[in-house]
Amino acid sequence: MFLISGPDLVIAAAKAGIIGAFPATNARQIEELQSWFEKIRQMLTPAERTRWGVNLIVHKSYDRFERELDLVLEYQPPIVITALGNPQRPLECVHSYGGVVLADVINIEQARRAIDKGVDGLILVCAGAGGHTGAYNSFAFVEEVRAFWDGLLVLAGGISTGRAIKAAVTLGADLVHMGTRFIAVPESLVCDDYRQMVLRARIQDIITSAAVSGVPANWLRESLERAKINPDMLHKPIKVDFSNAAGDSKVWKDVWGAGHGVGSVMEIEKVSSIVSSLVSEFES
Ligand SMILES: Cc1cc2nc3c(=O)[nH]c(=O)nc-3n(C[C@H](O)[C@H](O)[C@H](O)COP(=O)(O)O)c2cc1C
Repeated sequence: MFLISGPDLVIAAAKAGIIGAFPATNARQIEELQSWFEKIRQMLTPAERTRWGVNLIVHKSYDRFERELDLVLEYQPPIVITALGNPQRPLECVHSYGGVVLADVINIEQARRAIDKGVDGLILVCAGAGGHTGAYNSFAFVEEVRAFWDGLLVLAGGISTGRAIKAAVTLGADLVHMGTRFIAVPESLVCDDYRQMVLRARIQDIITSAAVSGVPANWLRESLERAKINPDMLHKPIKVDFSNAAGDSKVWKDVWGAGHGVGSVMEIEKVSSIVSSLVSEFES
């Protein structure tokens, strides 16, 4: 999650038995990214090192891609997640060390294109997801994709409980991708203000708009109001440009994202405690 997940969250996730991932662009400088990779390598046991990943922006406007890929080759995250662009760009590198590439997709065209390019799995980002979101209903999207794809399928969007994970698996997903449930953990990079806003928010406090970052995303209403952004003006997309994604991302610093599952976040809990709840909810 942009400006939210970093090495501490990834390490806590891997130790708790789930897979943690962070966007490479969260490290402002490439040297910082290397130190994050190094920390992950140092802190995880060999078994835990099978459970982490990194999100890469593969959009052509993102000029740090090649340098990030060099570090990926050096530190070999077992999972690389691609978003917003051609998922083929990191494939050869990641496959060379036995890693897998999963592509975020929000429609059938993107899903078919990613499969054609040779990705190992699809992440269906459905309506209600935090950050950049899809618009499709999870039930319908999984059914349509499962009709032509029997490979690894990950479902994302509004999944915040063990019950929802069980439902996703019943629906045909192999894994789920959760973001919102983990924003407020102590291991995330966010400030306490953001954590408290997530705790206060419920589903009606989430606003979908493309106008803030150029791509449809879900935002916390309270942060829009604080930044004096009029929710009525939020229908106008702007040009996508990731050339300064690792620099000063003013928008995402002042306007905070979260998905429809925000209502399940009732307290500030450590990653390990959330994972225990997810497991017992799933089993019961
Ligand atoms: C505030 C926020 C920022 C996010 N930023 C990114 C990102 O930079 N790259 C990415 O691949 N996914 C990003 N995500 C999406 C998550 O990886 C995941 O797909 C999504 O959170 C799942 O939906 P959920 O929030 O309803 O659990 C972000 C999610 C949130 C909440």
